[in-house]
Amino acid sequence: MSQTIVIFGASGDLTRRKLIPALYELERKGRLPNQTRIVGFSRTQYSDDAWREYLAGTTQQFVGPKFNRARWEEFAKNLFYRRGDITSAESFEALDTALRELEGDQPGLRVYYLATAPEHYETAARHLGQAGMTVEQGAPRRIVVEKPFGTNLASARKLNAVLHEAFQEHQIFRIDHYLGKETVQNLLILRFANSIFEPIWNRNYIDHVQITAAEAGGIGTRGGYYDSAGVVRDMFQNHLLQLLTLMAMEAPARFDAEFIRDEKVKVLRAITPMHPNEVAEATVRGQYRKYRDEPNVRPHSTTATFGAIRLYVENWRWKGVPFYLRSGKAMECDTTQIVIQFQLPPHMMFASGPRSVKEANRMVIQIQPAEGVQLHFHTKVPDAGMQLRLTDLSFQFRQKFSDDMPDAYQRLLLDIMHGDASLFTRSDEVELAWSIVDPIIETWEAGQPPLALYEAGEWGPPICEQWMEAQGRRWFNVCPALP
Ligand code: BG6
Repeated sequence: MSQTIVIFGASGDLTRRKLIPALYELERKGRLPNQTRIVGFSRTQYSDDAWREYLAGTTQQFVGPKFNRARWEEFAKNLFYRRGDITSAESFEALDTALRELEGDQPGLRVYYLATAPEHYETAARHLGQAGMTVEQGAPRRIVVEKPFGTNLASARKLNAVLHEAFQEHQIFRIDHYLGKETVQNLLILRFANSIFEPIWNRNYIDHVQITAAEAGGIGTRGGYYDSAGVVRDMFQNHLLQLLTLMAMEAPARFDAEFIRDEKVKVLRAITPMHPNEVAEATVRGQYRKYRDEPNVRPHSTTATFGAIRLYVENWRWKGVPFYLRSGKAMECDTTQIVIQFQLPPHMMFASGPRSVKEANRMVIQIQPAEGVQLHFHTKVPDAGMQLRLTDLSFQFRQKFSDDMPDAYQRLLLDIMHGDASLFTRSDEVELAWSIVDPIIETWEAGQPPLALYEAGEWGPPICEQWMEAQGRRWFNVCPALP
């Protein structure tokens, strides 16, 4: 069956930075299904050839030395461009006619990829529905919705409702690109393809879990979007809560989209959304000092660029175990990591052994950029009596396998074409995630807890360290060593 990927927002950033490079890479590796054509749609005027030529330059820029001109020429034969206006019903009718012409007498799979500004998602879905382009008659029709999926629970519900008017849930693929990362998928393998971790993966052995997504860069040129979004909408509602669900979920009975998503949804359901009175104590809200000087940021903006949030998963496995989620811009380094801190030994018989500070018995899962897993434990220092020292066992993907970690979009695009929704968020999942963060966003926007400033290059505001220490714990503030 032939496949057509229609990219709405074809002249935008996502198309040139992520989608086309990922599709080109799939083609280069021989993984793009035969007869795949890509049709760009947006308001900018391009001929097919002009769009191909423009993308040749940008793809070369993003894939670097892996770009091969001859391979590109082959790939580019299947790139087409149709100009249109996403707000006009006629444009969709014209697009449908153009797609039929390209498909000839063999209608195949169509993927409608919304790479537009989020305010166009509903309009595009409605027009696709009205033009009859969503009906599956022997030929699947799928829609891909990028983040942000709404700005709060109410808007996410509305977007789901509009999508469901034109599409059934099995046709909808909501992207969270974190799920396409190799190390994020590896969380399932690590936990459920081994037997040594799972018996201790619970409240009896784990003291707490830290999930950190730190970025050294500031908000750059994205001030307009970021100033109204802030860190919770940008990173917590989606990426960090996804990591939490994969860390905390039960083993699904089968590796199957619905089984996996059912288990993730159970985790989200077990997190009771905070009462506004709890937010001030259970969260830290920060902003880097030069943020207000960034382009398109309001001069007195109180938007958070850093957040730390403590959540509890209220079930038999996790009752009483805090999950600390933390993310920020302009931090010390780029690192996304999950720290599982196991409990102290019940009784420490070595005089030099730790009695309160928890730093051994720790597993660190490096999501990026130094993808890998480390286990930290105490070892005897040779020839030094019973002195202990913290040591580690370290596994690094780039040493063990190829240094070429594929971009998340390659896997996600392939899964969409194959109709596998395991790595995509279901409607109930996305709404539950919003219901967890909504009270936090609302309380922050009402000014609680006070906004704490931090210098760029720190691990967030110093008060965040004190907050953690007051709970008898310490953040794992370590930049990973790159191989
Ligand atoms: C995006 C956020 O979803 O994820 C960005 O909008 C953030 O602000 C990015 O920088 C992080 O993704 P990655 O893959 O670079 O960790």
